[in-house]
Amino acid sequence: MTDMLSPGATIGILGGGQLGRMLSVAASRLGFRTHIYEPSANPPAGHVADQVTTAAYDDLTALRAFAASVDVVTYEFENIPAEALDALDAIRPIRPNRRALAVSQDRILEKDFLTGLGLTVAPYAAVQTLDDLHAAITRIGTPAILKTTRLGYDGKGQARLRSPEDATTAHASMMGAPSVLEGFIDFSHEVSVIAARGLDGSVACYDPGENVHKDGILSTTTVPSRLSPSQRTDAVLLAARILNALDYVGVMGVELFVTRQGLIVNEIAPRVHNSGHWTQNGCAVDQFEQHIRAVAGWPLGDGSRHADVVMENLIGDDVLRVPAIARERNAALHLYGKAEARPGRKMGHVNRITRGIA
Ligand SMILES: Nc1ncnc2c1ncn2[C@@H]1O[C@H](COP(=O)(O)OP(=O)(O)O)[C@@H](O)[C@H]1O
Ligand SMILES: [Mg+2]
Repeated sequence: MTDMLSPGATIGILGGGQLGRMLSVAASRLGFRTHIYEPSANPPAGHVADQVTTAAYDDLTALRAFAASVDVVTYEFENIPAEALDALDAIRPIRPNRRALAVSQDRILEKDFLTGLGLTVAPYAAVQTLDDLHAAITRIGTPAILKTTRLGYDGKGQARLRSPEDATTAHASMMGAPSVLEGFIDFSHEVSVIAARGLDGSVACYDPGENVHKDGILSTTTVPSRLSPSQRTDAVLLAARILNALDYVGVMGVELFVTRQGLIVNEIAPRVHNSGHWTQNGCAVDQFEQHIRAVAGWPLGDGSRHADVVMENLIGDDVLRVPAIARERNAALHLYGKAEARPGRKMGHVNRITRGIA
């Protein structure tokens, strides 16, 4: 393929957190250089990158200089302002593309898009005023979850409504931000598909993992999941449809609720995903290398699973267990180089290989 970036080319990554860090490591394994763009000082990805630009997302001069110094621009988080993207994509390709970003930045656009593909999402209604919320509750019922339309992550920007009486408190907690009411899905479990699409349009999906959240934050991912073979097929086919519809290039995380009525799409993330970290120790080519391959125009790598793995996130004080985990057999530690262990902060993860598969 003529569009393949050669080793020695530079991948620009917007965002310097742990995902950017692991992308940067994967890129360097393939001989690429990386340049991180991150507003805050001393980002985890900066420790393992060739270059770091410390500047805000509204600093158009810094953005243009960054774009001019790289061969392709990718990102580790989806909340990049549109003006920043305008400045960048005048100079270099952005992969995954802007439509994928726009759709996933806004929970209502996202649900409209998914519904338009014929996929099932939770019942939903846009909410701005308290009256909107009452009307939405009349239609959708309770229990339900009110979420800010934009900028939510790790369960932040969400309020649960057990009964209609919770409306006032829930509405106040949105602090005026546009929001969406979602019917509460009585799922048996949660899974996600980590899917990749190359520049040539080929798609490869990892085996779906089963996710357990605590306090809205991912706690563990287990492969294999409890999906039946036909559910697994449904899951990867629907993920592939999403990627094709967006003409997507790169890795995407597709979060699903498993119910008796079938699979319901919770949300999509246009980037490598926490629930795909198990691939680092369960596959020949992990999600980070797969993403770099895709955005660099390389053929997708072999993502078939060669082990059963349980990924556990190390959040806040969990990091105090590192000395004990370091002594475990069949456990691979991945630490993010963050100095301070605040509650709810992702400090690292451990992949425990529970069984090898020949
Ligand atoms: N409509 C829903 N029904 C049931 N559980 C939900 C619903 N929406 C979210 N949750 C729970 O909250 C978690 C976080 O919500 P999510 O919408 O994925 O937000 P975030 O952007 O913070 O990941 C989900 O993984 C799921 O466990
Ligand atoms: Mg989520």
